[in-house]
Order: sequence, then structure tokens, then C-alpha cells
Amino acid sequence: PREKGWITPYLHLFQGFWYSSSEIQAINTFQNHFQAKDNDIVVASVPKSGTTWLKALTFAIVKRQNFPISENHPLLVFNPHELVPPFEFVIYDETNWQVHELPKMPEPRLFGTHVPFSSLAKSIKETNTKIIYICRNLFDTFISTWVFVNRIMPEFLPALPLEEAFERYCKGIIGFGPSWNHILGYWRESIARPDKVLFLKYEDVKEDVVFNVKKIAEFLGYPFTKEEESNGVIENIIKLCSFEHMKELMVNKCGTMGKGRIVENKYFFRKAEIGDWVNYFSPPMVEKLSKIIEEKLSGSDLSFRLCD
Ligand code: A3P
Repeated sequence: PREKGWITPYLHLFQGFWYSSSEIQAINTFQNHFQAKDNDIVVASVPKSGTTWLKALTFAIVKRQNFPISENHPLLVFNPHELVPPFEFVIYDETNWQVHELPKMPEPRLFGTHVPFSSLAKSIKETNTKIIYICRNLFDTFISTWVFVNRIMPEFLPALPLEEAFERYCKGIIGFGPSWNHILGYWRESIARPDKVLFLKYEDVKEDVVFNVKKIAEFLGYPFTKEEESNGVIENIIKLCSFEHMKELMVNKCGTMGKGRIVENKYFFRKAEIGDWVNYFSPPMVEKLSKIIEEKLSGSDLSFRLCD
């Protein structure tokens, strides 16, 4: 099946989820060729639900022995997506094709992905590779996506009106969607294998970032020592990765991401609020999406905070 896309003219259904044709190609190669190592770390997410933030935090936490939080930290120079490259857009994307970088990557290797759990390369599931997953209430995720897509939209595609985007979204038609199935796949795995998948919500991380930074560090096997805690290492990491700081960095003000698809770094930093959707949703839209989410997530005890 094929449907009108958001960023690309068409989306295609592949293994139960919607993608552009180049993404399907990349995911195929990823599934057939990627050899995970036990100490690999994968930052997985629904697009527009805090990926950039989680990548920054993970990099800062895991690489802190090599890169203490200082004036020369890589996060001051590179966008988090460059430091934690995604499988489907960078490593295995044929326009970008950085597969040759794999053997050179310093361990532990950090990767990003929006690929749903069921479609990850088998070796990720079979090795001790750890996965941290982030998702966000789907009202904010939808608006964040819609604004992002309309900003980066290639010139040959007209901007997508909100109502039209919403109708497609409600049918699950969005890159890497249906989003509720994406969330449920990682959620189930985090319950079945809590040492394999850490399931995070954007709203929770915002609410208590210290607690979640410690949790991430422990889960990944890089816990903070008492000395680090008393030396303010956690606070420094949080400050380094904060929205305000990241947004102000020169690399994010001016830089671009990717060779094949040029996305300006600044587009990854917008408002970072919980509840911005109220400025866009009409009452019938609220009712419709609420019903869909309730139905799709029923049976799980998953719920999301919609407002601050
Ligand atoms: P908004 O569009 O609601 O502002 P992703 O990184 O998955 O693309 O998600 C993008 C969303 O995360 C955007 O939300 C963006 O502003 C927000 N974001 C980016 N960096 C952040 C950070 N360091 N801390 C908190 N939120 C951040």
C-alpha cells in the first residue's frame, strides 16, 4: 500500500509501518548487515519526541571519561545527531552512506534510530546491546512534527495544511507510524526485558531530569560515583544538554545536518514545552485523537501527561 507522504511525496507500508522508499531501502540493508556489539547503545524514539535531547544526554553520560564536561566538549561543536548517527538516515542511507565509518567508531558505539522494535536488526536483539527509548504525548509529538515538516519541506512539495496532516496522522500515516504501535512495541519489550530496553517519556525526563540522568547512567552501566555526584558532574551534564543551551550553540544556529537531506540544525530546537498543542487543536480534534489513543493504548497501563 502507498499513501501521500509528509516530507516525501509518498509513504509505503513496510513491516507494518509507514516509510519513504529510501528509508525502506536503508532499513532493509540495516536489517541484513548490521552486526551489533555487546557494548553498543541504541537511542530509539518516535520522531519529534525528544531524540535530540536524549542523544545529547546519552553521549555526555557515556563518553564522560574521554570527554569531561569542559570547553572542548564535542556537544559544543557537533549537533547531537552527528555524534549519535541514525541507522536509517546516515549509516545505511544510500545518499549518505556512512557504513564505512562503522569499524572506525570508538566503542562504546552510540547509534540512533526511529525504526520500530520489531524491525530492528536481529543482532541488536540477540546481543547485549542496550536500547533507550523515548516517546512523548502524541498531541505534542504531532504538532512538533507538523511544524518541523512544514519548515524543512522541500520546495517541490506544498506545505501540508494542519487538518490534512491530522487526518493522515489519525490513520497512523506518518513516517515510522502508526506512532501508537511504535510506542507499544518498545513498551512491551521494556516490560519483558527491563535490562534490555529503558522506556522513557519526554514529560517525565522534563519533570525530574536529575533522577532520569542517573537512571540512564545506571541502566547503561555507567553509574555516577559518589565523588562525581558531589563534584556536580550530573548538574553539568544537564546544563550542557539543556534546551536553552543547545539552542544557543553556534552549531545549532547555523549548521546543517546530513548530506543527502539538508536539515538545518536549528529546526531541532523549537519550544520544548509540554502542551503547546493547545494552540493548534480544535475541540473536535482533541476528541478524535483522545479516542484513538485511548483505544490503541488500552490494555497497556501507558498514559501521557498532556499539559504542564
Ligand atoms: P517542540 O517542537 O515541541 O519544541 P526530536 O529531537 O525527537 O526531533 O524532538 C524535537 C522536540 O524536542 C522539539 O519539541 C524540540 O524543541 C525539543 N528539544 C530539542 N532539544 C531539546 C532539549 N535539549 N531539551 C528538551 N527538549 C528539546
